[in-house]
Amino acid sequence: MQQMWTDIDQYIESHLIPEDPVLLQTLKNTDDRGYPDHLAVAANQGMLLQMLIQMNNCKRVLELGTFAAYSTMWLARALPDDGYILTIEGRDTHAALGQENIDNAKLKQQVELKVGRAADIMRALPEDTEAFDFIFIDADKQSYPEYLELSLKLSHSGTVIFLDNVIRAGAILEESNHKPSIEGIRDMFSAMQNHPAILSCTALQTVGSKGHDGFALAIVK
Ligand code: DHB
Ligand code: MG
Repeated sequence: MQQMWTDIDQYIESHLIPEDPVLLQTLKNTDDRGYPDHLAVAANQGMLLQMLIQMNNCKRVLELGTFAAYSTMWLARALPDDGYILTIEGRDTHAALGQENIDNAKLKQQVELKVGRAADIMRALPEDTEAFDFIFIDADKQSYPEYLELSLKLSHSGTVIFLDNVIRAGAILEESNHKPSIEGIRDMFSAMQNHPAILSCTALQTVGSKGHDGFALAIVK
């Protein structure tokens, strides 16, 4: 099935996803530096991020898990020139790659990359930090429940929260699987269930070039 999913993603991309030199350069530099591309979002998912941001006229975006900053480029594409992205990366090597790709992209929007554990950085943000309009959670899956709570604190009514990789080829249903990343996702589902600060939420499975996975989406009450 994987080959067909990849071919169909390719078909979708060739029809609906315009080529963008910034995105291509980011992928190329990531490959040239010897990093794999499976951690990056698929282009058609990047476009979905762009559209969610455009739909809601977002200006301030928070991203947890920068890696090569490929998804950051999609977030930036969606924003007006005076848009702002705070992106947080926990690994020094990934942060260096992400910063290099951000510098190369010469984006109009302000993109600030902070290095460290996302939860620590979120807690250390100044008390008067303006709420974010869109939050993309894509860092270590183990910490998703904590990231969800901290994100809700940095949100306003209507903020959209997107959590990547919440299906993991069905591993969330494997009872014998107690990996911290999988437990983290399960705890996130439990936390989202009837959460008093969430207006509505769902999760969708996806198949494509990145295999079988999915994302959760929440709107803040
Ligand atoms: C992994 C993490 C991601 O954020 C992703 O999109 C795909 C894979 C991983 O840790 O394997
Ligand atoms: Mg991801």
